[in-house]
Amino acid sequence: IKKIAITTGGGDAPGLNAVIRAVTLAATKRGWECLGIRSGFDGVLHPEDFPEGGTFPLTPDVVRGISHTGGTILGTTNRGNPFSYEILQPDGSVDKEDISPRLTESFKRHKIDALVAIGGDGSMGIANQVAKLGITVVGVPKTIDNDLEGTVATFGFDTAVSYATDAIGRLHATAASHRRVMIVEMMGRHAGWIALEAGLAGSADIILIPEIPFDLRKVAEKVKERNSRRRPFSIVAVAEGAMPIGGTEMYHDAGGVKKLGGIGEYVAEGLRPLVENEVRTVVLGHLLRGGSPTSRDRLLSFRFGAAAVRALAEGKRSVMVALDPPTVSYVPLEECTRRTKLVPLDCDTLATARDLGTCFGD
Ligand code: F6P
Repeated sequence: IKKIAITTGGGDAPGLNAVIRAVTLAATKRGWECLGIRSGFDGVLHPEDFPEGGTFPLTPDVVRGISHTGGTILGTTNRGNPFSYEILQPDGSVDKEDISPRLTESFKRHKIDALVAIGGDGSMGIANQVAKLGITVVGVPKTIDNDLEGTVATFGFDTAVSYATDAIGRLHATAASHRRVMIVEMMGRHAGWIALEAGLAGSADIILIPEIPFDLRKVAEKVKERNSRRRPFSIVAVAEGAMPIGGTEMYHDAGGVKKLGGIGEYVAEGLRPLVENEVRTVVLGHLLRGGSPTSRDRLLSFRFGAAAVRALAEGKRSVMVALDPPTVSYVPLEECTRRTKLVPLDCDTLATARDLGTCFGD
């Protein structure tokens, strides 16, 4: 190997820059050149869109002092899947085209020997397809949602949990002052990892996650029970993908159009007639993705980045780096994109929350 490239795909996650730094330093140490591709694969697919260049050399100087920063110095996009590239038509519609041959040509032109693809399940799926074009690829698992199969954790998750835990802590004081029910909605897509861990760490009274369909009457019972114990306030941590038992009838109108802003608002609307307390909703949204990575996420990012380079040096291909305590291991790209990693119903974190009296609305 003489030259490798790095791409970051999908949403940003705290720790991306730390991975980029680790890959760059570990590659430079082996005498390899390192190239950053801007905006997913767009930098090589459409270099003409980048007046400053679609790619740029990543050197120890370029990656100096970036590990503690959020976002990514490469930029990231959901648009640039080379196998189904979205092309905006003059009438505003979007056509999809397979422009992957352009990727192969561009990699040849740049003399790129291998690719480190940093991303979540969508990006690992694309990385797997890129590998099938004959390009050497190693993946690095990124997402605040922690929903990637094959790895115990993804980088970005710890930062999201820490921020959400802090937010829940702040809400306790204001909820208690006003005897309110505070509903805090957080990201996580179809999985409840962030809500479960932040909810437990932040001592939320009720945690609603997609893995456990909930009944609003049970949630109201818990609020009333607290009221009767002279704890006349409650905190509800709700994952954006949480679902009421029986589906989303109240949430969508007959045409499937959303009636309410999000699940937090749905829970608030449903609870109001059932409890005496005032109910307020807070949506943490993209706040969970911004900001500086925690020390855990920085460490994980460094470990993943360095392990990706070691994998390439050892001749591994089409694998994703995975956390496999106490070490890192490698799983075939194929395996980590098969399904979403949900919270297992028999995990001890759930059991712990239940033992501590947390209500899951079931
Ligand atoms: O996958 C990361 C994530 O932040 C999810 O938690 C969330 O559902 C989604 O991305 C939000 O995407 P966007 O940035 O496109 O709003």
